[in-house]
Amino acid sequence: MEQKKINIGIVGLGFGKEFINIYKLHPNVGKVAICARTKSKVEAAAAEHGIPAELCYTSIEDMLKNDDLDAIHLATDIPDHYKHTMMCLKAGKHTACAVPMGMTIQECADIVNESQKQNKIYMMLETHLFTREFLYVKKLVDEGKFGKLQFLRSDHMQNMTLPGWPDYWLGYPPFLYGTHALAPAFEIIGKQPLSVVCHGSGAIKKERQSRYHCPFAAESATFFFEDTDVILESTRWLYDTIRQCREAFDVYGSKMSFEWQMTEDSGHVVYTNLEDAEVVDCPDTGYLLPPEIGKLANREAVEDKTHQSFIQGGGHSGSHPHTGNDFVQAIVNGTQPKSDAIHSAKYTVAGICAQQSAMRDGERIYIPRFD
Ligand SMILES: NC(=O)c1ccc[n+]([C@@H]2O[C@H](COP(=O)([O-])OP(=O)(O)OC[C@H]3O[C@@H](n4cnc5c(N)ncnc54)[C@H](O)[C@@H]3O)[C@@H](O)[C@H]2O)c1
Repeated sequence: MEQKKINIGIVGLGFGKEFINIYKLHPNVGKVAICARTKSKVEAAAAEHGIPAELCYTSIEDMLKNDDLDAIHLATDIPDHYKHTMMCLKAGKHTACAVPMGMTIQECADIVNESQKQNKIYMMLETHLFTREFLYVKKLVDEGKFGKLQFLRSDHMQNMTLPGWPDYWLGYPPFLYGTHALAPAFEIIGKQPLSVVCHGSGAIKKERQSRYHCPFAAESATFFFEDTDVILESTRWLYDTIRQCREAFDVYGSKMSFEWQMTEDSGHVVYTNLEDAEVVDCPDTGYLLPPEIGKLANREAVEDKTHQSFIQGGGHSGSHPHTGNDFVQAIVNGTQPKSDAIHSAKYTVAGICAQQSAMRDGERIYIPRFD
């Protein structure tokens, strides 16, 4: 039987470039259009992936005039996520956007409202909800293997002084980009976050503070949830603190615990007895995907290994084809993606509240809900 197909446009060809192949190979995608500000970048990607000239753009506004396109995948600069998302939704396009959803609570609320008003899907492309580690641990938690959950810890420690990141990152407040640390931990706990207390620690260089006025080198937050005695302790940093990049979670239960590896490829550890420790390899997850894109979830599949987010992000653990697939399947089947507008707002706004708490000397902030 003929598969239902949608047409999709990708805006932004840094991180976004990784998704051209995923959509081109996807059995439910017909046309793939691309857009970036720099013409030569668009032309190079078009030549590499066989995209015809009529599907190449250097402005989002022009791309949105193409009535053939059902959906837009945004991988543009963070300060523009809100503006670009609202433009796409108002143009009647299903919209997926790289993290974070927005930079303020109001922006996130507006996107939830607009996606409902337009009856179009909004998805935040949270890669960590599809890493092989998250899928491995979540399955074991759902099967009851951890026993009673007792405590979670997560962190996203990335030193953005690596050359090549765009200017807007300079001095970025850590928990305004909290979703990689929060989304997987929230989903493992499976409860609504209620409040957060966050403390700032250390200080970034003065010249790095002028844009966002956040002085902290590191931020440590404790999240409290509805209907559970389990708390999450989460750490974020972006500048002037030295360590290899890590986007990690640890899960502690009464029967089993999981700790993320300390350094890249040193091995995750599972504990199942008093003094046992087993280094585990979380399996590749391509078998969960349509066969045409399954191999893209394998460890070696990252296309542009020179991009900063892959040098520091370790290839995001096979998550890219899953995020693209979740968006496409939701549109084709009339369902919601895992990180729909309400979940995206939950993860993003919880981080914004943690940032507010840090700036107010650890005041407890109650987290608004969107469901
Ligand atoms: N693991 C993850 O989820 C992950 C990893 C890397 C990056 N990201 C996110 O992806 C986004 C992009 O990051 P990046 O590192 O690729 O940045 P980048 O600067 O390398 O790329 C941005 C791209 O957006 C394009 N663009 C921006 N404004 C545009 C406009 N108005 N019209 C057309 N094109 C426009 C630029 O031309 C460029 O191609 C950021 O939001 C970042 O947070 C997420």
